[in-house]
Amino acid sequence: MTEKTKAEADPDRLASQLMESGTLSSDWLPAFKAVPRDRFVPDVIWPGRAHMNRQDDRVIRSESPDVWWEAVYTDAPITTQWDDGAYAGPGKGRTPSCSNSMPTMVFSMLSALDAEPGHRVLEIGTGTGWNAALLCHRLGDQNVVTVEVDEAIAQEALGRLSAAGFTPSMVVGDGTSGYGTGALYDRIIATCSVGQIPSQWIGQARPNAVVVAPWGPVYGGEAVARLVIDDNGVAQGHFIGSSAFMRLRQQRKNLPVTSRFLDTKRWPLNAVRSTTSLSPDDVGDWICMFAIGVQVPDLFCRVEPGHDGAYRLWLFNTGVTSWASADFVKGKAVFEVAQSGPRRLWEELEAAYGWWDQQGQPALERFGLTTRGGPFHAVWLDAPENPVPVRNST
Ligand SMILES: C[S@@+](CC[C@H](N)C(=O)[O-])C[C@H]1O[C@@H](n2cnc3c(N)ncnc32)[C@H](O)[C@@H]1O
Repeated sequence: MTEKTKAEADPDRLASQLMESGTLSSDWLPAFKAVPRDRFVPDVIWPGRAHMNRQDDRVIRSESPDVWWEAVYTDAPITTQWDDGAYAGPGKGRTPSCSNSMPTMVFSMLSALDAEPGHRVLEIGTGTGWNAALLCHRLGDQNVVTVEVDEAIAQEALGRLSAAGFTPSMVVGDGTSGYGTGALYDRIIATCSVGQIPSQWIGQARPNAVVVAPWGPVYGGEAVARLVIDDNGVAQGHFIGSSAFMRLRQQRKNLPVTSRFLDTKRWPLNAVRSTTSLSPDDVGDWICMFAIGVQVPDLFCRVEPGHDGAYRLWLFNTGVTSWASADFVKGKAVFEVAQSGPRRLWEELEAAYGWWDQQGQPALERFGLTTRGGPFHAVWLDAPENPVPVRNST
């Protein structure tokens, strides 16, 4: 089979689609055209699905060129590495650790960054190098610093960037520390998610600098924050939309294994049993998880599938003192709950859900974040004066 040409794969169709949806602005259209995505996508990929955290099987460009080209010019993320490179195929690894992000996400984050020619930009997470190349095209190579923690990914990105004619400052290292040598920055963009904005990013930014970074609590749910840094080093702003990025390696959640809480075969042990009319199925949406996670910062969950669509939703705290389970069964209006330990985690989840519900189930875009970097942060609804309550933690 001869390889499809770029024209056949139709980057123009993708551009029109992104422009119609409002994510690709006329400011960024020249960069989209001059920096083709196909030059930054590796030959071995796992195409993702739009708005879904799921990857298709491995595609090798030389074996299935038409599938490869189709994936490149589809508005979906493309996984390019699993398990920090420990897994190479043929199937899928456990955790995706690098991707060429979904074009909608790339251009909505670049628009939010509001980068103007002349601005200095720090990117955390070079990945395939596409975003860095787009920034170089718009701002000039000398104004772009990009940091990648994974040596192999960085080397490949460097090769692609130079083959395409771009020479940003490329740093191999932990982007948590930013890159002081290249400071001060007018704009900082992270293409991996965080639970804490590193204080170094704020320290390396000029007053009025903009930080665009995906942020999410331990429980789940994640959104891109667009923060403006004031003269006192406080970064503040709204979330602009949902996201599902790979976590900054140094902030991975590393959650305790279930066996540290209980032997699930001996469930429910000494747990207190009750019932609830709040369906576990009604608390699993991304925004719902975000609202719960912000209020109960040390809560995390796991799902244990059962038969016929039934499942057990497990709740745990990172301090490993308490657990709860809630059993979803299709068609039921009342669900079995078990709770163990000093905390009543299902009740905490219900209270957190109740708060979100009472506020009229606000969308992610109504929430905002204030932070000085590091562990201090406050999430608010509509305005900083209206903080989201934080309920408990151990
Ligand atoms: C979604 S990919 C980035 C996509 C990329 N901007 C592109 O255009 O292809 C996330 C990247 O963040 C990198 N990363 C994770 N933790 C990091 C850290 N502490 N410092 C720098 N890069 C990191 C990962 O290795 C991965 O390459």
